[in-house]
Amino acid sequence: MMKESTSSITPYFLTTPIYYVNGDPHLGHAYTSVAADVIARFLRNDGRKLFFATGTDEHGQKVQKSAEAAGIETKEFVDVNSAKFLRLVNILNCSHNDFIRTTDSRHKDAVSFLWNKLVEKGQIYLGAYEGWYSIRDEAFYSETELIDGKAPTGADVEWVKEESYFFRLSEWTKPLLDFYEENPDFLGPSGRRNEVISFVSQEGGLRDLSVSRTTFTWGVPVPHDPKHVVYVWLDALANYLSVLGYPNEQSENFSRFWPPDLHIVGKDILRFHAVYWLAFLLAAGLPPPKRVFAHGWWTKDGEKMSKSLGNVLDPVALIDKYGVDYVRYYLSAEIPFGNDGDFSIENFISRINSNLANDFGNLAQRALVFVYKNCDGKVPAHGEFTTDDLDILRAATDAFDIARGHVERQEIHKLCECAIHVARLGNKYIDTHAPWTLKKTDVGRMCTVLYVLVEVIRKTAILLEPVMPTACARLLDLLGVEGHLRTFASAADRIPVGTAIREPSPVFPKIDTKPKPSPASTVL
Ligand code: MSP
Repeated sequence: MMKESTSSITPYFLTTPIYYVNGDPHLGHAYTSVAADVIARFLRNDGRKLFFATGTDEHGQKVQKSAEAAGIETKEFVDVNSAKFLRLVNILNCSHNDFIRTTDSRHKDAVSFLWNKLVEKGQIYLGAYEGWYSIRDEAFYSETELIDGKAPTGADVEWVKEESYFFRLSEWTKPLLDFYEENPDFLGPSGRRNEVISFVSQEGGLRDLSVSRTTFTWGVPVPHDPKHVVYVWLDALANYLSVLGYPNEQSENFSRFWPPDLHIVGKDILRFHAVYWLAFLLAAGLPPPKRVFAHGWWTKDGEKMSKSLGNVLDPVALIDKYGVDYVRYYLSAEIPFGNDGDFSIENFISRINSNLANDFGNLAQRALVFVYKNCDGKVPAHGEFTTDDLDILRAATDAFDIARGHVERQEIHKLCECAIHVARLGNKYIDTHAPWTLKKTDVGRMCTVLYVLVEVIRKTAILLEPVMPTACARLLDLLGVEGHLRTFASAADRIPVGTAIREPSPVFPKIDTKPKPSPASTVL
């Protein structure tokens, strides 16, 4: 019998990073959104009250420069590009509760409030910054961090000398190290922990952080000193507060959902979340996030995606060609979440054809067509279950608890694996118990076998619904499964005998391995 989730009623706040609007969205951005959405949908299906936030990061020098290069007024530029990101999350079928833009007045108010709060707590002082800055990374680097005169990320740096406000980050070295020690689950995957700890425990400890700029204007003005704009990362990180209604701490969403349960971020921006953000919040006296999980990076055919190489993958073209569910499945299943991965269209096709067309799709199609044709289009009555029947039914039910454990650790690839494992058991079962033979020898037993198969398909579809919401809902529709039998709470229930099924058509068609040329294929 499946365990009830212990914390089913506890609210859960989940975020993606907010995306820079200096260019068009690409597959890397889609990846963060899909991964977070799989977790969001899973937890909601598991009964959690969840707030899922995403949005766009629109201030800073990088965005201002890109607008200038495009010859467009900055506000118009960010409006157009933010709309592209919003369109992408909608095309990806993300179930976000809000989409925050850092140019929203609700956000700018929150940034000013947070700034004043930090000033009030004695955490910000005026000084002068002299050092290296990378516009691409929107980050300050010390001399010792540079590699061959460039940022460790490979980005160009420039020498910056200007009056600047500073955040007393140096005071937080010890409290941060204590925090990591006391909260061993704060950072995931576990391998990333050392990386963060070694940055914080650098020789001499953390240095104070420059948190304002004077050489450009595109940002939130520093309260009482508007020739400065707030450093874009302090501005951007505050989106997690503003999206819930901060500074109104009594607002419905803030009081209910703060602090964040999980920030999903790419490995490149872990430091900003695990070090700076944590320090800002502790300094402002706000409860910190419970966990930050850093995923890896995608390359394309072994190379870093970049505009200059012309190999940037357009997720919309991929979706137009293969459908959103296949793209979501591939991104979720292909690489262990947390690791880097390489995208190739051959891997994409082989992953989809093997897991979905051959394993799950084939099982669903074979079983449903057989039920539809031989059982009067209804889920048949079953006789007594044999050990084999009970074993596979139990394996399908147990998969829910196993999947829950995986998702709690953000192992979304293992969620896919565990569902496909059940589908493979189903294929073995159908071959061993051959309903087509039983049709001639023992119709009663044939009905029992088909009933078991329908249950296995229902459960696999529920498990995969967070990954492929449209296809799995279609499969559950074909099976005539009612709403209450689509939730995780129904894992131990059984589909009623006599449920009418619809005429089946393949839900996971095989991708032709020799695709015909189409406009979209040029970018793939
Ligand atoms: N604006 C900041 C985040 C501020 S959050 C307070 C930012 N934006 S970004 O647009 O550059 O990146 C957003 C997300 O996309 C990050 O999680 C980043 O890791 C992810 N990706 C960008 N390119 C990627 C790949 N090639 N592969 C996987 N994810 C990558 O950083």
